[in-house]
Amino acid sequence: MADLTPWNQTVLYNIYPWSFKEDEGHKPQSGHGTIKGMIEKIPYLGDLGITAVWVSPPYPGPLVDTGYDTTNITAIHPDLGTLKEFDEFINKCHDSGIRVMMDFIPNHTSTQHEWFQKSRDKETGFEDWYIWHPGKIDDKGNRVPPNNWASDFSQPNRKARDRGEMPWLKEEDWTPPISAWEWDDSRGEFYLHHFLKEQADLNWSKAEVREAMKQCMRFWLDRGADGFRMDAVNHMAKNMEFLDEEINTAYNEKEFDNPYDQLLRFNSSNNPEPLRFYVQEMCSVAREAKYEGRDVHLLLEAYMGESELRELNAVDPEYATAFNFGPFHMEWSALKRKVQLDYYYQNFNEKGVPNQIYGNHDNSRLATRFGDKNARAIAVLALFTPGMGIIYSSEELGMHDGAVPSEKMHDPAEFRDPFRTPIVWNDALPNAGFSNASAEQLWLPINESDLGISATRQLNDAKSFYWLYKESIRLRRELPAIRDGRYVKINTDNEEIVAFGRTSGDEHAIILINFSPYIQHTNLLGNEFAAGRSVLSSIDVRKNIQEGLNLEEGVHLQPNEALVIVPTVSMASLTRLAEQIK
Ligand code: NOJ
Repeated sequence: MADLTPWNQTVLYNIYPWSFKEDEGHKPQSGHGTIKGMIEKIPYLGDLGITAVWVSPPYPGPLVDTGYDTTNITAIHPDLGTLKEFDEFINKCHDSGIRVMMDFIPNHTSTQHEWFQKSRDKETGFEDWYIWHPGKIDDKGNRVPPNNWASDFSQPNRKARDRGEMPWLKEEDWTPPISAWEWDDSRGEFYLHHFLKEQADLNWSKAEVREAMKQCMRFWLDRGADGFRMDAVNHMAKNMEFLDEEINTAYNEKEFDNPYDQLLRFNSSNNPEPLRFYVQEMCSVAREAKYEGRDVHLLLEAYMGESELRELNAVDPEYATAFNFGPFHMEWSALKRKVQLDYYYQNFNEKGVPNQIYGNHDNSRLATRFGDKNARAIAVLALFTPGMGIIYSSEELGMHDGAVPSEKMHDPAEFRDPFRTPIVWNDALPNAGFSNASAEQLWLPINESDLGISATRQLNDAKSFYWLYKESIRLRRELPAIRDGRYVKINTDNEEIVAFGRTSGDEHAIILINFSPYIQHTNLLGNEFAAGRSVLSSIDVRKNIQEGLNLEEGVHLQPNEALVIVPTVSMASLTRLAEQIK
């Protein structure tokens, strides 16, 4: 096994298996990615400098939520390949110095899972493995759900209303969310589902459930996995007294598109005590003697406020860190991002793995969300800040959201398919080299408008997104200040620019990002360096390099440019020199 990079220096690449690559030898070609296709692309990942992959769920299940509804979290979906092939994937990744992080779904399973099927009967020993409730009787004598808890996937109600399917609502009424409770005839009770009704929530308050899930984690660690991306962790933490959620008075139908956000979240999820306990439970597996020295880490997915995420990071910092979702949905504002960056790094627990995440399979691709030039600046933000840099597969090519006709849509939440269209590998091949199936058979269509930025074209173009990512990753590995330097706060006198520094012993770097579409100039306040040279510009990694920058005169930045500067002369040495000359 090649040396594996410590998590806090790693570049983690999120592979969405169904959209990544179908292997050439797959007969007949199916139109979706495969495990063997992932194996084919390990050299590509190695060349790019990737040191860890997070594999979105490759597990069997009915695919109502593309793998986040699994019938067995210790197996591989037969359409993707076999467990043996997945073992080969892990081993080959390790041979290339790439860690493997499994996407793990502790909160729920498919309702087709054997455990849920058994749980529908009150005398199987599985009756409490999910969260069942008889509900309550309303004023009209009807049996109704026990409380107002809502499903995270309530967006379809907004769309139904837009289609005129809720004529009884007055204009000023809020669209109702979808209940998180579903009636089950065979059991004669409601069960809880924070997501789809096909995804039932497990009952983590029960010791047997916790142990069963921990056993599933061991299964993957024993096969060589290095860690877990833990899905929807905040949803595991329920108040089992089932109290109603309070109304979120900040909600309005213009700014929020998910009726789920009408409720605050203190009882249905985000409940601090159980959250802490369940995270400790999951970390206890990573702490087991047999995994000692393996540097197993859990990356927790929890869409929560900044201070709640900080508390989550404090639970077991050596073994679990939350995705840094603070800036995730923040507008493109230098002022706001600067405050967030300074806050995050000044408060980060030193033992944990700080991280930067800007994109994933649930969100609009960066080039669509922020525009091509800003998406390039984000590459620098993501890769030059301390800790783990995270890349959602396709972002390294600057791909855009695809146009997906309604008959091709899979996403039950009805908005995420455009973010998951296949990778455009080679525009000279059918289906951009993703699969040799017929175009109609593809699980999602190819982005025709992205053919000009296929991977093969970018490999030979120094101005491309790919080279920006590759060069950023190289510098991150080779410059000590970026590899392991701490975050240094630097202020500017221009509010369109974010600046920060990195320092490791005598090694320093200054990173500047122009958030505006205009040329900007800034002085660096409190800066201790007189001169430097730029080592990377997001506009053109090769050409915009400048020697002998006079930092005392400040720095000019091109529109939307991110610039990395390595200081060469400190103010202190200049002063010493001046004194010697005197
Ligand atoms: C978060 C995952 O990223 C998303 O894709 C999934 O639909 C939900 N959790 C439910 O598992």
